[in-house]
Amino acid sequence: MSKSEDARIREIIRRKEEGIDVVLGKNVQAREGTTLLECVHLIHCALPEIDMSDIDLSVTFLGKKLKAPLVVDSMTGGAPKAEEINGTLAEMAQERGLAMGLGSQRAGLLSEGMARTYSVARKRAPTAFLFANIGGAQLAKGFPISDAERLVSMIGADALAVHLNPLQEAVQPEGETSFRGVLAAIKELCQNLSVPVMVKEVGAGISREVARELEGVGVKAINVSGAGGTSWAGVEALRAADQKDPSKAALGALFWDWGIPTAAALLEARDAVRVPLVASGGLRNGLEVAKCLSLGAAACGMARPMLESASKGRKTLEAFAEQTLLELKTTMFVTGASTVSELKAVRKIITPPLTYWVD
Ligand SMILES: Cc1cc2nc3c(=O)[nH]c(=O)nc-3n(C[C@H](O)[C@H](O)[C@H](O)COP(=O)(O)O)c2cc1C
Repeated sequence: MSKSEDARIREIIRRKEEGIDVVLGKNVQAREGTTLLECVHLIHCALPEIDMSDIDLSVTFLGKKLKAPLVVDSMTGGAPKAEEINGTLAEMAQERGLAMGLGSQRAGLLSEGMARTYSVARKRAPTAFLFANIGGAQLAKGFPISDAERLVSMIGADALAVHLNPLQEAVQPEGETSFRGVLAAIKELCQNLSVPVMVKEVGAGISREVARELEGVGVKAINVSGAGGTSWAGVEALRAADQKDPSKAALGALFWDWGIPTAAALLEARDAVRVPLVASGGLRNGLEVAKCLSLGAAACGMARPMLESASKGRKTLEAFAEQTLLELKTTMFVTGASTVSELKAVRKIITPPLTYWVD
């Protein structure tokens, strides 16, 4: 390996570890904004006429059965710490029949050692639904299909998630802000890749217009990943401050709460497209997951809470997953829904300001 490659790898490891450390060590959650899920009220049913133990959480997502509609949202890879976290998350996903996304895999193309920090997920989760991951900005710079296939085979992926993160790139000190040609690159990927392509945001949401464009080029699922949870403007603001970049730090502070709240993004996309939707961004418990499923999500993703629990070890992660699924099941029980499709049919009241987004 040349000296410059070695320096590049060290730089990636530093950036990946900083990403994890900032999310875990500092408060980078939305400050003023919320997911707007507090505006969704599922109607209580005093006469459920079901046995809670019979409730079926399973769903089919992109042709594969999940035992519960939960996704460990795309997070990490590319650093030793990330390898351990990915292994822990993958074991849990395998045991519980959940889906899991890996973090951006560009680093995995650089060396065997880097690839291992991602492929550990397939080793520990031989049959779970796994999403590979790459940034839209990287695709637009010219990313051969053969490299995209390498990302897929690195983890035996069931689908590839392309993340769109223009706000993060704009605030990130070393960000890449050339987004021209991203849609065309996604289209090419959809036409040529061996697995379905999903597009996701990273916490600022997908609007109805963007959802339509994505469906139009052949995207098979959309993760709206809206505002109200982890703020990537916030993460980058803190990193910029550490790097003595006051301009980017101020930019990140200004845009900290920017984005389409998760509940609003979900409603926008639901009314605009037919592809299955994943809801993520700020989901912190099973009741919020239930609300998103009832609003029409096919599955729900959680990033930060999964990371936080996994960083404390397998037992803590198991307890978190168990509790989240108990909360989801309880919501289904008290709304009289014995399946996820029945949960979608539960009557709900939607209050302002979420109603402002609906029409
Ligand atoms: C530490 C960390 C790293 C992340 N890295 C990626 C990534 O590489 N690719 C991606 O698509 N999303 C990435 N995300 C974004 C999440 O998938 C998710 O969209 C976002 O964090 C909102 O969810 P949350 O509020 O539950 O954290 C990352 C999130 C975290 C917390």
